[in-house]
Amino acid sequence: MKTSLCHNIVIVDSKPLARGQHFLSLKAPELAAAARPGQFIHIRLPGEGMDPFLRRPLSIAAAFPAQGTILLFFRLTGRGTAALARLQKGQLLHCLGPLGKGYSWPSAKQKPLLVAGGIGVAPLWFLKQALQRKKIPFYFFWGASSVDHFFYLHDFNSKKELLVLATDDGSVGYHGPITKPVELFLQNKQGDVKIYACGPVPMLKSLQRIALHYGASLEISLEERMACGIGACLGCAVRVKAADDHQSSCHYSRVCADGPVFKGEEVILSDEPGS
Ligand SMILES: Cc1cc2nc3c(=O)[nH]c(=O)nc-3n(C[C@H](O)[C@H](O)[C@H](O)COP(=O)(O)OP(=O)(O)OC[C@H]3O[C@@H](n4cnc5c(N)ncnc54)[C@H](O)[C@@H]3O)c2cc1C
Ligand code: FES
Repeated sequence: MKTSLCHNIVIVDSKPLARGQHFLSLKAPELAAAARPGQFIHIRLPGEGMDPFLRRPLSIAAAFPAQGTILLFFRLTGRGTAALARLQKGQLLHCLGPLGKGYSWPSAKQKPLLVAGGIGVAPLWFLKQALQRKKIPFYFFWGASSVDHFFYLHDFNSKKELLVLATDDGSVGYHGPITKPVELFLQNKQGDVKIYACGPVPMLKSLQRIALHYGASLEISLEERMACGIGACLGCAVRVKAADDHQSSCHYSRVCADGPVFKGEEVILSDEPGS
């Protein structure tokens, strides 16, 4: 039976997560059962009448089918995310989901290497959960501006899972961009690695270069601004390379429906948000 895309979801828990970030647990049994890592929901914000008009896309950060709940991790960016963070337990929201195409599963030979930039950790957290459930070892690289942006670091099995942190201010882990330890790691790594990433565009661009250089497979999740969220308005289009692999020859793909996860080598990343 096909799952409906429209859901009324109830807030089970709402709390601050780390500096400028928030956690929501939502009762959403159909979503919890159907969602795959890398997919997102498009939430109608609480408000008067049609304002705010546009829904906001947020990645599903974990799903618990037995409890019928999903988790969201989000940064307080503007008025929509601020309004979501003010909601109380028991309040009802409406959303569409699960939307988009998520990450693909690694092959038996590939070792997963997850790279998160800041709150880009959200979709990778769901992938981490799926890998942990299947007892598949992985490497997790997470960069942020400062130590107080990290959360739930105890949620890693230190014997089986390598966790590497980096901060812009050097307050914990490597002092500098997370892509540097990723590159150092790949220099000394034997065997097939599949990189999964989500974060700021400069980080994704570096990973495109690194993956190409070290022959690693790469999947990136993009966070374009969205309007409809279901592939109808073309508001979230990004440039992707045409099949002949020539940069001047490209076409557009919709992040909401064709992504948000794309093969690293196919997307032409721009530094301008929304372009
Ligand atoms: C598929 C997808 C999944 C996402 N998952 C998460 C997630 O799990 N956690 C999370 O914290 N965020 C996530 N985002 C980003 C999130 O949707 C935006 O931060 C949110 O919509 C901002 O809403 P707002 O009303 O708080 O801010 P607004 O008031 O709408 O915007 C505030 C400022 O942020 C800028 N801005 C807002 N959204 C974006 C964007 N997508 N790209 C670039 N600039 C933007 C605006 O231009 C403006 O300057 C995701 C985005 C997409 C497309
Ligand atoms: S937001 Fe409308 S097509 Fe993607």
